[in-house]
Amino acid sequence: MNSGEEFMKRLISGVKPTGEFTLGNYIGAIRQFVEMQSNYESFVFVADLHALTIYNDPTELHNRIRELVGIYLACGLDPKYTTLFIQSENLYHANLSWVLECNSYMGEMSRMTQFKDKSKNKGNDSISVGLFTYPDLMASDIILYDADVVPVGIDQKQHVELARNLVERFNHKYGDTFKVPEPIVPEAGAKIYDLQNPTKKMSKSDESGKGCIMLLESPESAKKKIMSAVTDSENKIYYDPDNKPGISNLLVIYSSLERVSIEEVVKKFENSNYGEFKREVADSVANFLTNLQAKYEEIVSGDLIDKTLDESNEKVRKLAEAKVKEVFKKIGVGRY
Ligand code: AMP
Ligand code: TRP
Repeated sequence: MNSGEEFMKRLISGVKPTGEFTLGNYIGAIRQFVEMQSNYESFVFVADLHALTIYNDPTELHNRIRELVGIYLACGLDPKYTTLFIQSENLYHANLSWVLECNSYMGEMSRMTQFKDKSKNKGNDSISVGLFTYPDLMASDIILYDADVVPVGIDQKQHVELARNLVERFNHKYGDTFKVPEPIVPEAGAKIYDLQNPTKKMSKSDESGKGCIMLLESPESAKKKIMSAVTDSENKIYYDPDNKPGISNLLVIYSSLERVSIEEVVKKFENSNYGEFKREVADSVANFLTNLQAKYEEIVSGDLIDKTLDESNEKVRKLAEAKVKEVFKKIGVGRY
């Protein structure tokens, strides 16, 4: 570790281990963690407790957790820079979450758009209380480590803003305790859209499966999905998310994977037709998946996953324990 570590700002983020991991998770989130890791004291975790807001088959959930650690490592998270851990292995997350639940209000929680979307069309007897309070757990994940920055896709920005409000409220009530975290949302790629329905977020819960590219799916199948992506009839390539959502989405995907600006991509394809453009995007995605999957296979067949997690465990537990003890003392519980 770098000797300047204590002066480095802290980064934290996580992904939920539910369903298959998507290109949206990579472009909107994991890519940022990788790019930022050497400039921060970085913490990235598997948000397995967050998965519990809906029912998951326990065996599947268990397998997804390890898969996600493998994906993190295969995408380029480096244990030299990033402390990788599993949320549920550090009991303090749930501990602090309860304190935050008692310091957040029904009104503000009811305004979380993700809660509103996910509970829409469902009866009160089928929405878990956890789905409602989950932003408190997310705030706990963040402030437990005094994180400065939280790279997330746009759909999670509101939750980081809630965390900021909770910090300000807590610090005001009990004295300076937590840092105010800042959400970092990528300029392009904060929301990757469904290939078949490019006004909807690309998501693992996509029913047909045709609009969503999975990180571990075959590169051939991903190519087909790009080739059949919905576009428009203009046959002219430029970036206009409102009027040309399909083409704009493909531009963002290509630009993110090839690490070139949207302007450069537009320039590169100014004389191409949609077929030619899609073929290039398809090749870029297939290339990316092929490399990622080769690294993934190597990682899951070795012992890096357990070694990394074992090494991080003590570090995150100690940090979190100190924070929760400080909080308990400030709020007056226990025998300090
Ligand atoms: P989740 O899979 O809901 O746990 O999301 C993990 C991270 O991936 C969060 O930062 C999300 O904002 C991000 N993310 C998920 N889907 C997308 C998408 N389609 N486009 C951009 N970011 C996404
Ligand atoms: N709630 C986030 C999601 O579903 C995942 C997450 C949990 C997270 N805790 C976090 C992201 C803390 C950033 C910081 O995408």
